[in-house]
Amino acid sequence: MATLAELARRHSILDEERIAHLQGLTGCWGLLADLSFADLVLYAPTADGPGAPMVLLGHVRPTTGATLYRADLVGQVYEPERRPTVVEALDSSKIVSGVVPVGADRHINLMAIPVNHRGQAIAVVGRERTRPPDRPRSELERTYLAIFDRFALMLEQGEFPYPDEDRFRHRTPRVGDGLLLVDRAGRIEFASPNAVSLLHRLGWHRGVVGARVEETGLGSTMLRAAFARCSSVIDEMESGNEVAVVSHCYPFLEGGQPSGAAVLLRDVTELRRRDRQLVSKDATIREIHHRVKNNLQTISSLLRLQGRRLGSEEARDALEESVRRIAAIAVVHETLAQGTDGEVAFDEIVRPLVDVVEEGLSSPLRPVEFVVEGDAGVLPARVTTTLAVVVTELLQNAVEHAFHGRRAGRVSVVLGRGSHGLLVEVADDGTGLPEDFTMDDCAGLGLTIVRTFVEGELGGSIDLRPVSGASGTVAEVRVPAEVLVGAWEEAQEPVAG
Ligand SMILES: Nc1ncnc2c1ncn2[C@@H]1O[C@H](COP(=O)(O)OP(=O)(O)O)[C@@H](O)[C@H]1O
Ligand SMILES: [Mg+2]
Repeated sequence: MATLAELARRHSILDEERIAHLQGLTGCWGLLADLSFADLVLYAPTADGPGAPMVLLGHVRPTTGATLYRADLVGQVYEPERRPTVVEALDSSKIVSGVVPVGADRHINLMAIPVNHRGQAIAVVGRERTRPPDRPRSELERTYLAIFDRFALMLEQGEFPYPDEDRFRHRTPRVGDGLLLVDRAGRIEFASPNAVSLLHRLGWHRGVVGARVEETGLGSTMLRAAFARCSSVIDEMESGNEVAVVSHCYPFLEGGQPSGAAVLLRDVTELRRRDRQLVSKDATIREIHHRVKNNLQTISSLLRLQGRRLGSEEARDALEESVRRIAAIAVVHETLAQGTDGEVAFDEIVRPLVDVVEEGLSSPLRPVEFVVEGDAGVLPARVTTTLAVVVTELLQNAVEHAFHGRRAGRVSVVLGRGSHGLLVEVADDGTGLPEDFTMDDCAGLGLTIVRTFVEGELGGSIDLRPVSGASGTVAEVRVPAEVLVGAWEEAQEPVAG
């Protein structure tokens, strides 16, 4: 369905500023439909001058009564003779009421309210209903209709919608949520039953009508701000953690002066409770990552203690390697413990991984310089953990195998992310691979882990080759793009059973 702005641009003569003004109106006119117990439709002229057809830009149905129109009217174009009342309101810039025949024997009561903006009627709101009921109206009905009339006058006077309205992320409240009518001194003149219940829940147990808004628990700033700014104001009050109420204050304006207000109240206790749950869920997840990291560090130290007691150098080295693999996974959990969304900027991980390897293997007799370049972007947690182990393994190999007989060396990690996926290169300027080396025949544990992880878990590829035109080795890991998005990670999670 076309939006109001699209329709207006295509069919009407309204410019962007006026379209924005009408959007301000339709952003909150559900309230007006409720107050008038009637359908509201928005007409705009399709051309300058009298006698132009009108396009219907918007329609809202009341939640307080039956709708007149079951069909969708938006986008229809009306010849002026079908809606003379609307034409008259547009031409005169004044509210005009009348009866309009629709179909053979049906009539609707139409109150045509011009939307005046900067001294000109730019559109017309039609309040459309069948004949008003003859039965005596309840106090609630009479009050709502009276409030509607005040808003209608404000539309006619160009005082509604408000020019700089609080742009809210809340849904616009409807009258059924709870409504207070407040006079210019801030006293409550009328309260709908739901509003009374809400104020009771907020802790106000005396009579609501006659009380001042600020003493009822709704706070004192909202009304004052709305009167000062001559615009709507939104506020939220909480009573402990029990009740949360959002209030929207719409001041009535007469000649630019506030003369009272309609305050809509909405119980958002349940919403806020869910917000809090989400926040605490985030905190729990972070806490778990933190604990996993601590546990991994404990395991590392236990293995290290054990390693010191071993007589065989080979066994000691093997344990030291394991300690570094575990440390690499701990680095990932440490990073995840700081974020909230289970995603990690991989660049942030690489430096700590380098530190792990440097601490364990680099010696002052044979200093190795490490360089990290490029950008890997954000990766899901699972991919990050796997890649962290892979990179650690490749770094270890470079330090362990590349610099035999050398005085110093340099290892670089280069990251690249594109539509193809992720590229990680670990290159050294060392002695190069053994003569007979092939990836397929390689039986070492380190490269076996790397291959299993890259090919098996990430669906990627790994290649080790000599650096072209210089000494040294470059290990190249490629991970396909589809693995790097969160959805893959979820799809891979085991199904809870
Ligand atoms: N950067 C490198 N420079 C030279 N040789 C390497 C390099 N990376 C791996 N190698 C060779 O590949 C072999 C297998 O490595 P790996 O599977 O990690 O086992 P390990 O490190 O326990 O020997 C190494 O023994 C080494 O000969
Ligand atoms: Mg190795």
